[in-house]
Amino acid sequence: MDKFIINGGKKLHGRVNISGAKNAAVAIIPATILAEGPCILENVPNINDVTIDLQILQEMGADVKLLDKSTIRIDTKHIRDTVVPYEMARRMRASYYFLGTLLTKFNHAKVSMPGGCDLGDRPIDQHLKCFKSLGADYSIEHGLVEINADKLIGTQIYFDKVTVGATINAMFASVKADGLTILENAAKEPHIVDLANFLNSLGADIMGAGTDVIKIRGVRKLGGTNYTIIPDQIEAGTFMVAAAATKGDVTVNGVIPKHLEPITSKLRKVGVTIEEHDDSVRVIGAERYERTNLKTMPHPGFPTDMQPQFAALLTLAKGTSILTEGIFDNRFRYVDELRRMGADISVDGKVAVIEGVERLTGAPVKVADLRAGAALIIAGLSADGITAIEEIQHIERGYEDMDVKLRGLGADIVKRRYPSDIKVAL
Ligand code: EPU
Repeated sequence: MDKFIINGGKKLHGRVNISGAKNAAVAIIPATILAEGPCILENVPNINDVTIDLQILQEMGADVKLLDKSTIRIDTKHIRDTVVPYEMARRMRASYYFLGTLLTKFNHAKVSMPGGCDLGDRPIDQHLKCFKSLGADYSIEHGLVEINADKLIGTQIYFDKVTVGATINAMFASVKADGLTILENAAKEPHIVDLANFLNSLGADIMGAGTDVIKIRGVRKLGGTNYTIIPDQIEAGTFMVAAAATKGDVTVNGVIPKHLEPITSKLRKVGVTIEEHDDSVRVIGAERYERTNLKTMPHPGFPTDMQPQFAALLTLAKGTSILTEGIFDNRFRYVDELRRMGADISVDGKVAVIEGVERLTGAPVKVADLRAGAALIIAGLSADGITAIEEIQHIERGYEDMDVKLRGLGADIVKRRYPSDIKVAL
């Protein structure tokens, strides 16, 4: 298994380029099933979740060509299969997007119940409610969700809870339905807007993405397209926090500063200096930060996907910070590991109380999920001594070349293969 070995205490400095957004890419790639011509996708992040998505498409019969490191041509015209098997689907949460796209394309889909990050209970009731409202029937047997429809018919859907995944699946299932579908209490994340722009570039008629009411008028035909995926605001936010935590000076390049506002404003609040430019932000760290409270909420609130990274920063702030997780039941699985590094954190349900300490010290730690991994990297970069991070496959699901990019900023981080890198003296 690979590990990251970090020798902490180096201030990050320089420029880092941000890759395409994971959560946009993992929706847009299955959406190519809806296109009746080839799709060329640019700014595709080179991460494991994208690789899995592309493998699923290929297994189903799609023609996938890598044109360069971040540009992919996908032609799905030979796809006939409407089943995504367990071995594939369980490897990533976003495999549930194949439900919506296959349903629209073939009136049938059979996909294993999703896997992905274990963040607590993650039901898909809102997805199923959308499919049913649009006229489909579903069943769940032997771990597989099966959906059938004679015809999908536009309707009005109110989400009981703001959900990114179900908003996206509702867009997939209604994009060619008869008539108008209105989604209310829809998610507003930047990747929802990106997906709507992608579908519109195929010929869809979607209005209102980015607000909580999205109107989708079903169309007969969707063509091919050339489309550039938006930059990943969570990768950008992670580098911003890493720059702050190491008291560094980093320009985070190739971003949409508006998407970063919830992160930027919290960083400013604790004392980080941020300069915003057209497509970059410069983050200038300080010696010590102020305490703060934060609660994660759907966009434009503070993103749950940045909560662990912020916790790592606040372990070294002055005073007591309170973090409330407003989206998931179990997103504090990094806390025990940060404690091993000297952090003072207690958790009660969805609330973490962080008493700032003077310093963290490097330790062997284990990653439980993607953003927990990002938090441990940030802690390792700002700690004294060596931090060895295990289970980094979780990090590589969602961050492209994390170690390479950090080395470019002056971090002392290497990836080691264990046990094969260790020579045991006999
Ligand atoms: N929920 C339901 N019923 C549903 C769907 C969701 O109760 O049918 C609940 C969830 O259990 C959760 C809340 O609603 O408590 C929000 O879930 P949402 O559907 O918004 O999350 P998701 O689609 O499963 C996506 C991202 C996550 C990100 C969340 C919130 C992808 C592939 N994943 O998950 O990304 O945290 O939205 O923004 O887009 C990550 O990148 O680290 C990550 C976990």
